Amino acid sequence: MAGITLDGVSKRYGDGHDAVRSLDLDIADGEFVIFVGPSGCGKTTALRMIAGLEEISDGEIRIDGKRVNETAPKDRDIAMVFQNYALYPHMTVAENMGFALKLSKTPKAQIQQQVREAAEVLDLVEHLDRKPGQLSGGQRQRVAMGRAIVREPKAFLMDEPLSNLDAKLRVEMRTAIARLQQRLGTTTIYVTHDQVEAVTLGDRVAVLRDGVLQQFASPKELYERPAKLFVAGFIGSPAMNFARGTLTSGAVETAIGAVPLPDRLRQAVEAGDGRREVVLGARPEAFALAADAGERPGHRFTAAAEVVESLGSEVHVHFAFGVAALDAATPVTTRGLAVAKLSGDAQVTVGQQVPLWLDTEKLHVFDADSGESLTATA
Ligand SMILES: Nc1ncnc2c1ncn2[C@@H]1O[C@H](COP(=O)(O)OP(=O)(O)O)[C@@H](O)[C@H]1O
Ligand SMILES: [Mg+2]
Repeated sequence: MAGITLDGVSKRYGDGHDAVRSLDLDIADGEFVIFVGPSGCGKTTALRMIAGLEEISDGEIRIDGKRVNETAPKDRDIAMVFQNYALYPHMTVAENMGFALKLSKTPKAQIQQQVREAAEVLDLVEHLDRKPGQLSGGQRQRVAMGRAIVREPKAFLMDEPLSNLDAKLRVEMRTAIARLQQRLGTTTIYVTHDQVEAVTLGDRVAVLRDGVLQQFASPKELYERPAKLFVAGFIGSPAMNFARGTLTSGAVETAIGAVPLPDRLRQAVEAGDGRREVVLGARPEAFALAADAGERPGHRFTAAAEVVESLGSEVHVHFAFGVAALDAATPVTTRGLAVAKLSGDAQVTVGQQVPLWLDTEKLHVFDADSGESLTATA
């Protein structure tokens, strides 16, 4: 087992494309870390550099505190699990799992024992004598994991290992991987473009965009204190709602009226020059029916329900703002849709003018130009 450190690691491909830009990460021994971000943001490139499969253009990678820039992949003692797990079709599950050990001339009895142990962890004991063709997709993926486990590597690197599986199996395998990682306690880096997978699996999540690290934090912190507009919009489902606005004397003029900021946020955003262009962010659960909020401080406005989704325990109401929500005095800057997550017993019909309440304590404020959060540390 080992910690993994990336120090200013960059990758410029031959065509001049900067796939990863000066990436700094300090991953603790035993930690389960996720790289997440949209397709093309550099996740696979970063992982392959750690594995030694891709040369790094700049910076340093350390495993267990030792520089590995010049170390061959096979000597880094790291196991990779890919989306396309090529199992040998003519070999049994046991032979597939033990193949790397056989190559390294491990004694037969020891191979058998390590394969057996891995099979127990992965619930594959009954299938050890079968061929890959006789297994389901999920079982095959577990064999691929098993192949990595038997080597007892210092770390696992997994690149979208579940993306070939159907949705139900993906959720099952996600749970299996989380349990496995906890049980083995092996440092693991797991790549996915799926933010739900990222926040359910990871101890910490590194959010990447265009090769640049946006934030590296626990799922809870990413959700509650996103450092950038991009992270705020990427993490969470339904996504955070945004409205552009102008900050003036403690309130933000937006398409849903002048939203007053509580003292804590006001102090954070007014540290600068006072009046500025901002983007206001509110998670769907920051809204409630005005009637349910009673006298609680916050912002009240009325909006037309355009779509109503009843999910049983909650109701999602999509409302337009920038049109119906306006009183005549408010400048129209945005025509957008926002989604409010209301309690399951909320009675809302499409087309209805809904009196809503926004919990201003839960607002996020971002600089409109830089996208940096002004309130993440407030
Ligand atoms: N071998 C390569 N040569 C040139 N560009 C590449 C190569 N591999 C990946 N890229 C580019 O680098 C960027 C990051 O790719 P990748 O790391 O595969 O992203 P992700 O895994 O996040 O989808 C993309 O723009 C991709 O087109
Ligand atoms: Mg990739």
